[in-house]
Amino acid sequence: MIRGVMSSASPGLEASLPRHRRTLRRVFPEPAGEVTVAEAYGVPRRRHADGRPWVGICMVSSLDGSTVVKGTSGALSSENDTAVLLTLRDAVDVLLVGAGTARAEGYGAPGKPGQRLGVVSTTGDVDLSVELFTSGAGFLIVPEDAPALPVDTVRAGRGRVDLPLALVRLGEVVGDVTCVQAEGGPRFNAALLDADVVDELDLTWSPQLAGGDGSRLTAGARESMTGFDLAHLLVDDDAFVYTRWLRRR
Ligand SMILES: NC(=O)c1ccc[n+]([C@@H]2O[C@H](COP(=O)([O-])OP(=O)(O)OC[C@H]3O[C@@H](n4cnc5c(N)ncnc54)[C@H](OP(=O)(O)O)[C@@H]3O)[C@@H](O)[C@H]2O)c1
Repeated sequence: MIRGVMSSASPGLEASLPRHRRTLRRVFPEPAGEVTVAEAYGVPRRRHADGRPWVGICMVSSLDGSTVVKGTSGALSSENDTAVLLTLRDAVDVLLVGAGTARAEGYGAPGKPGQRLGVVSTTGDVDLSVELFTSGAGFLIVPEDAPALPVDTVRAGRGRVDLPLALVRLGEVVGDVTCVQAEGGPRFNAALLDADVVDELDLTWSPQLAGGDGSRLTAGARESMTGFDLAHLLVDDDAFVYTRWLRRR
């Protein structure tokens, strides 16, 4: 299973237990007890105070910090983790991924009707013949000086995408945007961290030591000590740990 490829119409997941009925055990905040994935993750989000959309990052990591096993995130995930990912997708207006993730995970169109997915790239050199783009759901986010491209495109910055500006300009292509979910990978996460636009981190800890040299959550960011507050910590019977962190402002 490839984490990013799953759509809300995924037959495997829905056949076993619909995600709105899945429950996890809340350890923090008190009181401890059962919560549905929707209660935990379907919370309302607002635009950031400076006018740009709210930005959440959603990732799964091994216990030793790897986010990539054999080239994708699939081996780290589980049905409950996928339910978290899909519930978060339902709660946001737009999905964003780095071009490396789009190339590695082979994203299809989002399962939520009408939802758009933006691929961030310096050049737009991604396969535009895949369903993500032929369905009309995919669009590109590139610098002003990137080549002309045959799909919807948001342009901001020169050489690299100016991410704060691109977030403001998303509305030119996808309409009103209150919140976006960034789904990695580590180098795109690093760019979001460097731009200081990460409002929320939804991080699942997969109960495995992955070994190898897979990138951690961010790869290549400037050193910083960017603080977050723990919004919740949930567990399940498979020893996965589900955390939600909000930027300390
Ligand atoms: N564990 C998880 O939850 C998870 C989630 C997502 C992905 N992954 C894994 O992560 C791996 C991919 O990660 P990655 O770090 O190699 O790649 P990535 O972060 O997905 O994408 C990096 C690319 O994004 C583009 N990019 C990022 N910031 C940019 C900016 N400010 N301006 C312009 N372009 C920008 C560049 O594209 P160009 O190359 O086109 O210039 C860059 O090469 C895959 O193996 C995937 O399976 C894991």
